[in-house]
Amino acid sequence: MKASAPGKIILFGEHAVVYGRPSLAVPVTQVHADVEISDSASAGIWIQAPDINLHAELNTLPSDHPIASVIHNLFFLSRVSPFPNLNIKITSTIPVASGLGSGAAVTIALTRALSAYINYSMTDEQINAFAYEIEKLHHGTPSGIDNTVITYSKPVYFIKGQPIETFQVAQPFTIVIGDTGISAPTKESVGNVRKLWDADRASWELIFDNVGGIAKRARDAIESGEWKQLGELMNQNHVLLQGMTVSSPELDQLVIAANNQGALGAKLSGGGRGGNMIALVEPNQAEVVAKSLVEAGAKRTIITQIS
Ligand code: PMV
Repeated sequence: MKASAPGKIILFGEHAVVYGRPSLAVPVTQVHADVEISDSASAGIWIQAPDINLHAELNTLPSDHPIASVIHNLFFLSRVSPFPNLNIKITSTIPVASGLGSGAAVTIALTRALSAYINYSMTDEQINAFAYEIEKLHHGTPSGIDNTVITYSKPVYFIKGQPIETFQVAQPFTIVIGDTGISAPTKESVGNVRKLWDADRASWELIFDNVGGIAKRARDAIESGEWKQLGELMNQNHVLLQGMTVSSPELDQLVIAANNQGALGAKLSGGGRGGNMIALVEPNQAEVVAKSLVEAGAKRTIITQIS
């Protein structure tokens, strides 16, 4: 049994989304998590995840291990007992802790493969809700945007706690993703923002309102194909993210490099402090912007078409 889940990028609204403002995210299919499950000749559930150097039997892992917690919770939910003997192979091309949704993608691919293997049928809605519970175990107060965009694998306009809204893309547009190579746990930046918000809620609520307004206008721009406007909105969102203290010199440098090379706009994407930034480009500029990002310190780049 095999299942796969894509990576994702947040186009607009990270952090403010945790406080109920709208945000936009899209799947990135160039990178993915893949899970393959087969019967095991030896007793137990054997997990092999070469990307993180893991080869272990389920019961030797702490129960709050991200992979173990998916398996335990799914077996609990489906009332499977005793556990079957299985080999679970997990591979992923999504860089870890860099804002591309690696954790949620592994959770979702694993949930899909495992539920199918044990004949426990789950709708997308149930998979999404299950993955959100797992995200909460590991990330403190996640908004749920990662699990939502990855489960549905479509562009989403996301407001925490509201029904899922997918949105129309007028014409495909091109994004270059630049990875600082700095791994930055989202939990930390979200926790820091929460402390700052707690100390001065009035000012932070205003910042979040501004970000939410940008996300709304960005959706309109995408739906009507106003790319220049969309790029401008990205730059504005980045400035607000800097004000929220979640950018970093490396991210700023990549954003400047992309804009100097003629990108229509650029911003950090995800939790920030490291991880990835994104730039909106004309399709024929993508390669040259990607090159300029590498020259400005990006450890790798991905060119993706959003449609
Ligand atoms: O770092 P990522 O891509 O997983 O994104 C986190 C986005 C935040 O808004 C910062 C947190 C959240 O839960 O939405």
